[in-house]
Amino acid sequence: MSEIVDEAVPLQGGRITDGVVRIGDTVRRPASAASPFVASVLDLLESRGFTGAPRYLGRDQAGRDTFSFVPGWVPPKFRPWTDAQVAAAGAMARAMHDATRGSDLAGQHQVVCHHDLGPNNAVFQDETPVAFIDFDMAAPGSPLEDVGYMSWLWCVSSKVGVPPVDVQATQVRVLADAYGLAGPERAVLVDAMLERQARNARFWAEVQAGFMAVEATDQQISDRIAWSRREHDHTAEYRKVFEDALK
Ligand SMILES: Nc1ncnc2c1ncn2[C@@H]1O[C@H](COP(=O)(O)OP(=O)(O)O)[C@@H](O)[C@H]1O
Ligand SMILES: [Mg+2]
Repeated sequence: MSEIVDEAVPLQGGRITDGVVRIGDTVRRPASAASPFVASVLDLLESRGFTGAPRYLGRDQAGRDTFSFVPGWVPPKFRPWTDAQVAAAGAMARAMHDATRGSDLAGQHQVVCHHDLGPNNAVFQDETPVAFIDFDMAAPGSPLEDVGYMSWLWCVSSKVGVPPVDVQATQVRVLADAYGLAGPERAVLVDAMLERQARNARFWAEVQAGFMAVEATDQQISDRIAWSRREHDHTAEYRKVFEDALK
């Protein structure tokens, strides 16, 4: 291997983890308490033929987790996406869940959830999301936890200058359709979104209170609490628009 290939290139865009680097066609990430579960989930996904995730390649000599590098680009910021992009992400999430259904890792729950399926954890090739990365928060759960969070981060925003609410709502439907969400689940998808928005505010409030060490400035932490609350208010205000679009 040449020296160029062996050089560690810091990977930008991560919001939580310090020290993620690329070396050749691998990604090295500091090991954490989540490492054993992440390794098992990625092994399971690979063994069940799901290709939209990095492969887990073991620990390197420095004790870091090693993953296959997925070529493409990872969005640095949230922004509006096309229906086709949202549909591709939704179908990929379904395939990922299906690959974990009934496994030991899912335990008593329906599936293993990723729990952080924003566009910031998707690798795009050309204009299409082709893989999810960053499985640190993966845990057994209900599909609605992931689809609710995705509805929010891929389709819904309270920001100025984004598509109007009826367009946002239509796109949540695109996501639910692409995922193949069943009727009773669709009826509570907005609740799942609201739950995750409230949970996000709580998570960052706990960071603010010093219960968790996260790489973020005080300003970033208070901005994220305020943003999560604004998004929650927006979703609650237009609940009927979102629910009608899902009928
Ligand atoms: N397997 C991978 N393939 C390609 N890029 C990756 C991979 N893993 C991480 N990255 C890049 O590194 C960045 C940070 O990694 P990530 O696992 O998302 O950590 P964080 O917890 O910081 O969000 C990502 O935004 C992405 O650009
Ligand atoms: Mg990430």
